[in-house]
Amino acid sequence: MRNHWSGRLGFILAAVGSAVGLGNIWKFPFITGNNGGGAFVLIYLLAILICGLPILMAEFVIGRHSQCDVVGSFSTLTPKSTFWKGVGWLNLLAAFIILSYYGVVAGWTLDYLFKSLAGAFGGKEPEVIVGMFGELVTNPTKQFIWFSVFMGLCLLAVISGVKKGLERWNKVLMPTLFILLFFMAAYAMTTSGAKEGIGFMLYPDFSKLTMTGVLEAIGHSFFTLSLAMGAMITYASYMDKNEPIYPMAIRIAFLDTVVAIVAGLAIFPIVFSVGLKPGAGPGLIFKTLPQVFATIPFGAVLAVIFFILLAFAALSSAISLLEVLTAFMIDEKKVNRKKATIFMTIAVYLAGIPSALSYSVLGKVKLLPGMEVLDSLDYIASNFMLPIGGLLIAIYTGYILDKKISQAEITEDGRSSLAIFSIWFFTIRYIAPLAMVIVLLTKIGLIDI
Ligand code: PFF
Repeated sequence: MRNHWSGRLGFILAAVGSAVGLGNIWKFPFITGNNGGGAFVLIYLLAILICGLPILMAEFVIGRHSQCDVVGSFSTLTPKSTFWKGVGWLNLLAAFIILSYYGVVAGWTLDYLFKSLAGAFGGKEPEVIVGMFGELVTNPTKQFIWFSVFMGLCLLAVISGVKKGLERWNKVLMPTLFILLFFMAAYAMTTSGAKEGIGFMLYPDFSKLTMTGVLEAIGHSFFTLSLAMGAMITYASYMDKNEPIYPMAIRIAFLDTVVAIVAGLAIFPIVFSVGLKPGAGPGLIFKTLPQVFATIPFGAVLAVIFFILLAFAALSSAISLLEVLTAFMIDEKKVNRKKATIFMTIAVYLAGIPSALSYSVLGKVKLLPGMEVLDSLDYIASNFMLPIGGLLIAIYTGYILDKKISQAEITEDGRSSLAIFSIWFFTIRYIAPLAMVIVLLTKIGLIDI
C-alpha cells in the first residue's frame, strides 16, 4: 500500500514546510523591492486568492484522487490523453529546474549559518556586511561546497521516506521559524527606517506597477505555494481520504502569506534605515538582516538561530521537490526509493552546477538579457513555466476532469459545503484562467492594456 502521512498534522506541516521557504523570506522581499512595493504586494495577495488558493485545491484533488506521482496522476485520471500526460511532464520539469537553482541559494543560507556561528557579523560596518555577499557568490569553491552539502541533506531526508524523514523535522522547526520572524519584524519596527519601510510595503503606488510586475506576482503566487511543479500533487497523493481539502488549503495559503508579509516587514525597515536600495536583487536579505544581528543585543545568538531556521525552511521546501522527482521514479519507473532518490539527487546536482557558478566562472554568461544563469532560470520557471502550468491545471480540473470527482473530493469530508465547491469550481473554470490568460498574452505582447 502507498505510504501515507501519519495524520492531519503531519500533512499540514509537510505542506506548509513545502510552501514556506526561500520564496517567502528570500524571494518575496526582493521581487517586491524590484517592483516598487505596495501595489505589487496587493496584486500578489489578489493572485493568491484567485489563482493560488483554487489551484492548490485543484492539486489536492488531482493528487489525492489518483494516489500517484505527478506524471502518473494525469495518466491515471485521463488515460487516453498524451497531452495531459505531457502536462504532468511539464510539472516534473519545473520541479527539476527549480530544485537545481534553489539548492544553490539554499547553500548561501548554510554559508551564512557558518558565518554567524563564527560571529562574523558582530560590530561590522554595513559596507563590510554588504560586501560579504559579493565575496560569497563570486567564490566558486564555496558555492560548490555549500550546494553539495545542501543536496546531501536533501538526499538524507528523502531517502528515509514520508513519515520518518519528512514529517519529523517539520514539527519543531516550522513553528520556531514563525516565532523568530515575528520577533525580528517587531524589532525592525523600532529602527529608523520603520516608517519608510512599512510605507514602501503597504502603500500601493500603481504608477510603479508594470505588466511584468503583475505576471511576476502571479508567478510568485505559484512559486510560494509550491504549485505547478508537482509538489502538492505528490504530497496529496499521500493524504488520507477523510482529510478535508478546503480547510487544509486555506490554512496553508494563509500561513504562507503571513510569513511572506512578516518577512517583508522585518526587512524593508532595515533596508531604509541602513540606506540600501529596495531593488538590491537576490542579495537583499543577506545584505540586510545580518546588519540587525550586528547591532542588537544577543545578535550573535539570534543570527545562528535565524540561519538554522532559514536553512531548514529551504530544506523542507527542497525535499518536497526532490520527493516529486523520486516519487516519479518509484511509481513510473518501478525503481526502489533508495535508488530513485540517489539517481535524482545526482541528476539535479549536475544540472545545478551552472547556477552555482553563475556569478563567478560563468559570470559573463547571460541566458536572458542582463541576467546570469541562476536569475534566468528562476525568471523562466517562475514567470512562464509556473503560470502556464497553473493555467493548464485550472483548465484540467475545470473542464477535463469529471466534475463528480472533484465535487466528491472537496465535499465528502462532511465539512465543506456544496457552496464552497461551487465557488471553487466557478473560480477555477472562469476567473483564474481568464486572469492568467490576460496577463500572459499582455506580457508576450499579443494584447495591449
Ligand atoms: N514554495 C517554496 C518557497 O516558497 O520557498 C519553494 C518551492 C518549494 C518551490 C517546493 C517549489 C516547490 F515544489
